[in-house]
Amino acid sequence: MSTTVHRRRVEVMISADQIAERVRQLAAQISADYAGRQPLVIGVLKGAWVLMADLVRQLTIPVRCDFVRVSSYGLGTETSGQPQLLLDVREPVAGADVLVVDDILDTGISVAWLLDHLRKKNPASLRLCVLLDKTERRRVPAAADYVGFPIPDLFVVGYGLDCGEQFRELPFVGHVKGDE
Ligand code: IMP
Ligand code: MG
Repeated sequence: MSTTVHRRRVEVMISADQIAERVRQLAAQISADYAGRQPLVIGVLKGAWVLMADLVRQLTIPVRCDFVRVSSYGLGTETSGQPQLLLDVREPVAGADVLVVDDILDTGISVAWLLDHLRKKNPASLRLCVLLDKTERRRVPAAADYVGFPIPDLFVVGYGLDCGEQFRELPFVGHVKGDE
């Protein structure tokens, strides 16, 4: 199904209902895996804020929440050096069970860097949850412990993901037509 958003054609790839159902399943799995513990859930801004909000409200375990912001590479990733940390975590990480929540695992470059950064703070455990995983695009080894949906190599928007700061507010994940 495709729909018009702000005068652009957007192909719906994952509906709001499908996302809600999958987030419920992920939350149940995470609640079971962390039973008896209180993980520190760290959302990666900006893309992860919608998932973070939906996910933590479905958890049945107590959590602490914090956010980090990492500059993304955009295109021309080869020459732009290492990702930059624009906002670091403020909650104590040492000894914590840390669950990083991100929107999408693409090349893996920024998340691999972020996980290294957090590992240096000596968490008791460190896991990654992503809504989307573009497995074909990986450039560095990176894998998520919890994946909402594996997707093909297409640029997607919605549910927190943007294209030039547009479309984050869409309740579904879609592909903007005419951008390929
Ligand atoms: P990485 O390439 O795995 O380091 O991903 C870095 C970031 O690029 C992700 O967290 C997203 O914010 C962004 N990104 C990657 N693919 C897409 C996409 O298809 N749509 C929107 N943002 C994306
Ligand atoms: Mg991101």
